[in-house]
Amino acid sequence: RQVAVIKVPFGLGGARGGAELGPDELITAGLKREIARLGLVLTEEVRVECPLVADAPIDRNRAKYLHEVRQVSERVCAEVSRVVAGGVFPLVLGGDHSVAIGTMAGLTSHYSNLGVIWFDAHADLNTEERSLSGNMHGMSLAAALGHSAFNLSHIPGVGPFINPSNLVYVGLRDIDEYEKEQIRAHGIKSFTMHDIDRMGIQWVVEQAVAVAGKGSDGIHLSFDMDCLDPREAPGVGTPVPGGLNYREAHFALELLASTNRITSMELVEVNPLFDHDRHTARLGVELIASLLGKRIL
Ligand code: ARG
Ligand code: MN
Ligand code: MN
Ligand code: MN
Repeated sequence: RQVAVIKVPFGLGGARGGAELGPDELITAGLKREIARLGLVLTEEVRVECPLVADAPIDRNRAKYLHEVRQVSERVCAEVSRVVAGGVFPLVLGGDHSVAIGTMAGLTSHYSNLGVIWFDAHADLNTEERSLSGNMHGMSLAAALGHSAFNLSHIPGVGPFINPSNLVYVGLRDIDEYEKEQIRAHGIKSFTMHDIDRMGIQWVVEQAVAVAGKGSDGIHLSFDMDCLDPREAPGVGTPVPGGLNYREAHFALELLASTNRITSMELVEVNPLFDHDRHTARLGVELIASLLGKRIL
């Protein structure tokens, strides 16, 4: 199997700077070595050009750095679309979670009915109007579902918006009021930490695959590192206590790998500025390896 790594060093969609350092941190933590060990072919390592804080004037609009997010989203969309067209598995490295806007748009140019499994403490369903923070990493799914004025449907070749019935959350525990309304209004399947406590991660992942896989022609895994407990993954921009533990996260991705249904992955929100000993990036590399098929024995 072939994998293309798409690095997106972008942090202006996040709550605090540092996520732009994520892709290099993951590479330094040994990502390419792990890919090679799994016997996979790394076809290319692309670096999407991203504006830095220094290049962007302070933006206090409702949606901060919307212009920059748009620019990066369009570039990510083009790269992902190109990689998928070549029959290669795209592995997108964030960056903050706003990079998912471009990833999903690029995927929909090939998958007419894309399923999405979203591992996150947060729902990322805010719109420009309703966000309390203005941070665009909290708005990715509103764009992908076509709920916000900002989306990428104008790009030629980009397919339909994500159907909410093919979207499923795992690990939620910090949801804004407006987002709760949206989850109810659209009936979005959500496995919160409460559900994981109650039913166990295996059952939850099996349900998630059933939801995202029903009638879909591909399943994208969007993995926000803050789904993990901050004791496991301190190096994130918006940590929330009470998340997945080490084995739950690995087991979830091992189970997903064994289904052979996942057609793309992104791992986002690694923030080295709040990490220690490159702990979070190393865990991120391990988790990617699990999703790509690494087994204990
Ligand atoms: N809901 C909060 C907001 O809109 C937090 C979003 C955090 N998102 C993330 N991808 N880490 O700002
Ligand atoms: Mn997120
Ligand atoms: Mn999050
Ligand atoms: Mn440590």
